[in-house]
Amino acid sequence: MKRVLSGIQPTSDSLHLGNYLGAVKQWVALQDGHDAFYCIVDLHALTVETEPSLLRRRTLTTAAQLIAFGISPEKSTLFVQSQVPAHNQLGWLMECMAGFGEASRMTQFKDKSSKTGADSARVALFTYPMLQAADILLYQADLVPVGEDQRQHIELTRDLAGRFNTRYGESFKIPDGLIVKSAAKINDLQEPTTKMSKSSGSVAGVIEIMDAPEVNAKKIKSSMTDAGSEVRFDEREKPGISNLMTIHSALSGQSLSALEDEFAGKGYGDFKGAVADVVTEYLRPIRERALELLEDEAHLIELLHAGGAKARKVAAGTIESVYKNLGTLA
Ligand code: TYM
Repeated sequence: MKRVLSGIQPTSDSLHLGNYLGAVKQWVALQDGHDAFYCIVDLHALTVETEPSLLRRRTLTTAAQLIAFGISPEKSTLFVQSQVPAHNQLGWLMECMAGFGEASRMTQFKDKSSKTGADSARVALFTYPMLQAADILLYQADLVPVGEDQRQHIELTRDLAGRFNTRYGESFKIPDGLIVKSAAKINDLQEPTTKMSKSSGSVAGVIEIMDAPEVNAKKIKSSMTDAGSEVRFDEREKPGISNLMTIHSALSGQSLSALEDEFAGKGYGDFKGAVADVVTEYLRPIRERALELLEDEAHLIELLHAGGAKARKVAAGTIESVYKNLGTLA
């Protein structure tokens, strides 16, 4: 069975629709027929100042939402990064393999550090992609399902793994990214050329899974569109409508051309109403299930501990052989 690994940061009280359509939907599908490892990357969330009680709560809400979306702790290994110390061990080794220049070219670092100014960004924001490479390589993953914004990090992971293998002998599988083109970048509802993001300046453009259905319906109905009236997929001329069409299509299963036919001659108002219905009906049971799961924190923690124990075993095997290849006496 091929091995799958992916991760998500617990940096917010709710996942957003981009996380689901770009990544988590694929995670759910891949559980069948693959040996899947899904990691809540809490250590990655520490690159910005985080309140301990918030980190704990967000780790649990993230787990609850993943399970509510269909990640099954029986089929997959669902765990928290800090439960597996080998991530840090291999993270250091990846930093030893990476050049300063290649790390400096990571666009996520450039984007995020430009918000605060590079001088006040944490060192860990810079070394973040090497820890991410470790997350993946520890599990000898074949496939890494992610959204478009992670493409460069996956490329770096492949480069680092290849370099390590050449220098120290076969130690890592070279993973492939799995980026589903149609949903790889869900955009912000208010700024439809920018990706929907947890760190977006305004919440009005972000569909949060844990928001009440009325809140999300309102956001969709007041989303930014162009001055035209034709429901047609054209990302350049109609980024707002195209983004809504992508969302509708990904959740309803209707093709983009079927949507164009259905809404021919109707206005944007009708279309937005239909998107709001599709989104809220899809998310309603997910949110309810997540809230239910959060009522029994002890059970959630138990599930994550069991996942952590499984992940530790696999990760320890990789560390042992990697240390041996490096010539350490460990
Ligand atoms: P994170 O937590 O920002 O996002 C989790 C997943 O959601 C995808 N995503 C999107 N997809 C489509 N449209 C969007 N607007 C959108 N926003 C987010 C992301 O591409 C991602 O797949 N660095 C990673 C976490 C990570 C990781 C890993 C991923 C750490 N280690 C190992 C894979 C493998 C991140 O910050 O994702």
